[in-house]
Amino acid sequence: CFLTKEPFLVVDVSKEPKFFPVKSLPETKSELALPLTTRGTTIGVLDVQNNTTNSFNEEDLLTLQVLAEQISVAVENAQLYEKIKHSLDEVRKSQAFFAKIVLESPLATFITDSEGVCILVNQSALYLIGVNNHYNEVIGKYNLLTDPPFANTPLPEAIRKVLKGEVVNLTVDLLIEAQTTKHPKYDMATLKATLFPLVDDFGKVGNIVVKFEDLTEKKVLEDALQQAQKMESIGTLAGGIAHDFNNILGGVLGYTSFIKNQMSKSDPLYRYINIIESSARRAADLTQQLLAFARGGKYRVQTLNINNLIKEAIELVESTIPSSIKLKLAVATEALVVEVDGGQIIQTIVNMCINARDAMPDGGLLNISTSRVTLDEQFTYAHPGSKVGNYVLLRVSDTGTGMTEETKHRIFEPFFTTKKDRKGTGLGLAMVYGIIKNHNGYVDVESEIGVGTTFSIYLPASNKQLEDVKRNTGNLKEGNETILVAEDEDIMRELLIEMLDSGGYQVISAENGQEALNIYHERFDQIDLVILDIDMPELNGKEAFQRFKEINPGVKVLLSSGYSQDGHPQDILNEGVLGFLQKPYGVNDLLDKIRTVMHSN
Ligand SMILES: Nc1ncnc2c1ncn2[C@@H]1O[C@H](COP(=O)(O)OP(=O)(O)OP(=O)(O)O)[C@@H](O)[C@H]1O
Ligand SMILES: [Mg+2]
Repeated sequence: CFLTKEPFLVVDVSKEPKFFPVKSLPETKSELALPLTTRGTTIGVLDVQNNTTNSFNEEDLLTLQVLAEQISVAVENAQLYEKIKHSLDEVRKSQAFFAKIVLESPLATFITDSEGVCILVNQSALYLIGVNNHYNEVIGKYNLLTDPPFANTPLPEAIRKVLKGEVVNLTVDLLIEAQTTKHPKYDMATLKATLFPLVDDFGKVGNIVVKFEDLTEKKVLEDALQQAQKMESIGTLAGGIAHDFNNILGGVLGYTSFIKNQMSKSDPLYRYINIIESSARRAADLTQQLLAFARGGKYRVQTLNINNLIKEAIELVESTIPSSIKLKLAVATEALVVEVDGGQIIQTIVNMCINARDAMPDGGLLNISTSRVTLDEQFTYAHPGSKVGNYVLLRVSDTGTGMTEETKHRIFEPFFTTKKDRKGTGLGLAMVYGIIKNHNGYVDVESEIGVGTTFSIYLPASNKQLEDVKRNTGNLKEGNETILVAEDEDIMRELLIEMLDSGGYQVISAENGQEALNIYHERFDQIDLVILDIDMPELNGKEAFQRFKEINPGVKVLLSSGYSQDGHPQDILNEGVLGFLQKPYGVNDLLDKIRTVMHSN
């Protein structure tokens, strides 16, 4: 019956060879089988049996045929229902999947109708408009064309273009107010928006999709990088100028002090010489600050406790701070050890204190604190230019006027100042920047108008033993030793010879390192001290020093330089040079230094 698709009637099973009894069933004598078919396919058989022979007639067959048809329909319906149910599940799953792509996207996404009213938004979008978790306030209500924060941005205009079928990309700058949570550090969010239309079956724009990518962090990082590059090029420029100025001023200052030493104080010209000297000194101070900015400094590195440097700095500024400003010191009780040029760090602190004072004309709180910190990847990522590691943090904060963004961007530029009437040169923070950078440190500034400013200085923490600091106090004495001078600049060399001569010394001079070396080779037993300029052609100071040591390991050498672009003089000091003469110097500085060196062993 299943195969033939025809009803099959057996009046007496004993006469039917195909029949076989099934043990679990009662005894069968006659049997009627009808096919169950749906759309021409047999899906089963309706089979009735009886325990008497000849028990089914034509009428039974008709009745059962009707029943078989109904069963077939019922089975088909059940199968169809299963199929529909399955595909409905599939549709639901894929709907949920696509909704998830929108809902969980980190890109703030709004889908609106053709009037700009939101019909679907995600969590990031809610964040952006400052209504966290409140879908109900947005769906069917919030309008991208007319509601803040987008109403006054180029976004509505872009939506109108999309309504005409265009795809639009644009950048939107948003002032952050309610939506501060995501960027507590920044007050402007920069968003890249992409808008595209969803066209319906009739070819009309039914919906608009608006996606926002947050570029704020990227922009902040780019700004910081640009800032670092700017400082780098200003540094190169300033360093170059300062280097030349230093040599020129060296001549002016040297000869002035030289004339002054030979002049009687009652001389009518003495007063003018004094003025020339003090003007040149002021110029030299400025040049020094520029040089510090351009990373030429760090000459006397010592292992020091930063807390002591703060105390020294405070002693220097205390008297200039009015009583309306309260000074609060919160330094760590343990020694915070750093390897620094103490003088430069003191200068840095003094500078920041003076700036803080100037920012608080009506009084306030000046807070200085120190602590130990570790900078991790997260910090260095957010602060380009900083490096991972252990640091000593020095903070100077005030409750003063604060700065505008514009000012904050420029404070480290040399000669940038907002102080009127020539009260500031604008070199203070440039110098701080250069000094800290040169110490492999990092400077950060946070400022808010009307609230105050905090400067954070990170200096690499040291594991070394603290050094005893004693300042040299040499006294002026006439000498009669022989000094070999190697200096390539004619004016400086002649000046040096005259200065030494005035101090009673015998002088031999050379125009470069090679010449000096030849002289030393022949006469080293007559030469008590060598003064070497670092930047010389032929054989520079550093190379010459090595060769001098080969001739006489006990050679006494003083190095002099204004600025060295390659290599720090500290390297040479470590190798046994006795001292360093920072150009420009006066005759007294020179003789003083020579005395100290001659008497050291
Ligand atoms: N604590 C602060 N609060 C507010 N503004 C500050 C603060 N520190 C620095 N500034 C701003 O940065 C500018 C530059 O500071 P910087 O120390 O480099 O120069 P200056 O103080 O103006 O002059 P100089 O230090 O050479 O006397 C200042 O003119 C001021 O506008
Ligand atoms: Mg200053």
